Amino acid sequence: MIFDTHTHYDDEAFDSDREELITGLPRKGVGTVVTVGADMATSRAALELAGRYENVYAAIGVHPSETHGMTEQDLTWLRAHAANQKVVAVGEIGLDYHWKDTEPPVQRQWFEKQIALAKEVDLPVIYHSREAAEDTMKIICQTKAYECGGVIHCYSYAKEMALEYVKMGYFIGVGGVVTFKNGRKLKETVEAVPIEHIVLETDCPYLSPEPYRGKRNDSSKLGYVVDEIARIKGMTAEEVIDITEQNARRLYRLDKRS
Ligand code: NI
Repeated sequence: MIFDTHTHYDDEAFDSDREELITGLPRKGVGTVVTVGADMATSRAALELAGRYENVYAAIGVHPSETHGMTEQDLTWLRAHAANQKVVAVGEIGLDYHWKDTEPPVQRQWFEKQIALAKEVDLPVIYHSREAAEDTMKIICQTKAYECGGVIHCYSYAKEMALEYVKMGYFIGVGGVVTFKNGRKLKETVEAVPIEHIVLETDCPYLSPEPYRGKRNDSSKLGYVVDEIARIKGMTAEEVIDITEQNARRLYRLDKRS
């Protein structure tokens, strides 16, 4: 079944039908989802959702654009809750130089601290990296963050760099953008990266695939992403679903959990 490795089901866009939508996912071929925190409030919300639904797991962490208000106390909370059975990753964390509302040095400081946390609690990392390719790679190498694995979410850089990440053991997150007419760069990445290193993600409610571009996204729309990956790779949709599901289980180490 489809494994959606990156969602934001706590988002207010789902306030009117969250319960119905999440419990209805298996009927639409979606077996498992990870709902991802982007600040302290949404990390708490992710934990709560994961506690309520068996097929929902959580990632907790603070998005680079939200790190300006982050405190050591927040880090202590993240450390304590990383031990929760349903928490499968630290994230989304990283660097975002597109939105400079948080100064890059502040982003880098909290990126490094949250990487250190992931290493300490031994969880994989969900990376958000936008217009910060060089610094992201530099920090990952300097901190040896690759030792705990992870996924480069919503991958937007060149295929050459994707292959470097693959060599380091990382997974590449592919979502709705691959269906866009101007998504050529990501299509090239999908072509270059071995299928064993690709995972599916919506980033819902954002980034709906064609023909729903601009509308609210949810995990049931991943079929369009699957079809495009299958077309590029010359595989069947079933093969793409099966292999990316296994990849996601490896990424989040689900088979090592009870
Ligand atoms: Ni996200």
